Amino acid sequence: MRVDINSNIDMEHHKITRSPRIEALIPALKELKDSAIVLLAHQSRPGEKDFIDLDLHAKEIESKLGKPVKFVKDIFGDAAQKAIKELKPGEVLVLNNVRKWAPENKEVKNFEDAEKLELIQKLAPLFDYVIQDAFGAAHRAQPSIIGWPKMLAGPITVKELYALKKIIDQPDKPMAMLIGGAKAIDKFKAMEYCFENGKLDYALLSGLTAILIFEAIGKSMGQVNHNIIAKDLEANNEIIKTTYNKFKDKITLPKDLVIDDNGKRKIIGIDEAAKYNTTTGDIGDKTEAAFKEIMNKCKTIVANGPPGIFEKEVFKKATFDMVDIMADVTKKGTFTIIGGGEMGAAAEMSGKADKVSFISTAGGAMLEILSGKDLPMIKALREKKA
Ligand code: 3PG
Ligand code: MG
Repeated sequence: MRVDINSNIDMEHHKITRSPRIEALIPALKELKDSAIVLLAHQSRPGEKDFIDLDLHAKEIESKLGKPVKFVKDIFGDAAQKAIKELKPGEVLVLNNVRKWAPENKEVKNFEDAEKLELIQKLAPLFDYVIQDAFGAAHRAQPSIIGWPKMLAGPITVKELYALKKIIDQPDKPMAMLIGGAKAIDKFKAMEYCFENGKLDYALLSGLTAILIFEAIGKSMGQVNHNIIAKDLEANNEIIKTTYNKFKDKITLPKDLVIDDNGKRKIIGIDEAAKYNTTTGDIGDKTEAAFKEIMNKCKTIVANGPPGIFEKEVFKKATFDMVDIMADVTKKGTFTIIGGGEMGAAAEMSGKADKVSFISTAGGAMLEILSGKDLPMIKALREKKA
């Protein structure tokens, strides 16, 4: 099974902080309890701090599944092959982070090229079935996502697609996207695609995507903020400006932001961000009010990425307020989806997880699916049905 168990890691204490994706995987593993199951997955990306081995993930699965789970620090070499061959029915084995094999980090142009790669050549013959269930990474044309000669759609993928179908086909309009958190350029592009295809009526932006746009249109957000998005900005400056100008009537950028003032929550204006030159970790009250007004008139709301760094007390207000608003409008019949892990965790923490219409295990993939794109993994599943 190729799964997506990419998780939040507390690097200081070397533990998984939140693992909704592991949670979602457990029922599938229980259902397949009589099979020998090998899990292939990634964690983060090369160069990131949390780009680690998957022994932690194996431990986490073990504790949630309630039976021993094996781990081998290898992906398709001799050690991995031996562990796979020795696996008995009823046992679960986790291979190491597939992105530690460099070619996995490159998108492959076509299925045939991917099938020739070492990972696929070495692993595919060892299995009776390849179950593709890395729904959160469905938008990545990477070898382990699209390269298997034959594959079956996994249970998470099937469940997600059923839930998202309502929006893919014909969302109730108006539809808003609430975008925050990291992966600024990915989210920007998903938003652009949705606008271009007439899916989206409003984008409510916070987090790094907002900072990226502010900087692209010439508003300095301070060196500290700038550094985080500098690479994305440099590579995409013109297109961000053009897209923003084209759709700016539909885009709401923050009107105020929050900084940590010696442990106190301090609301600042956008024009003050450069002067304070520190992390702007949340949106302020004026922004919340503007978002709320739009959310109240929408029939579909998709949230991806929290507006604040809600792990920190001073930055947690808006994220939980947005979850509350989503829960409220759901009661009134609005279809609400939370994706991207982080906000799902916030909904979980405030006991509102079952008060929104659906929580997805996917972030970027969900946005791209909703925007009507044929994702590489879905295309591969159609064409390579086992
Ligand atoms: C995610 O966390 O969004 C998925 O696991 C995909 O990860 P990626 O954005 O690093 O490809
Ligand atoms: Mg992620």
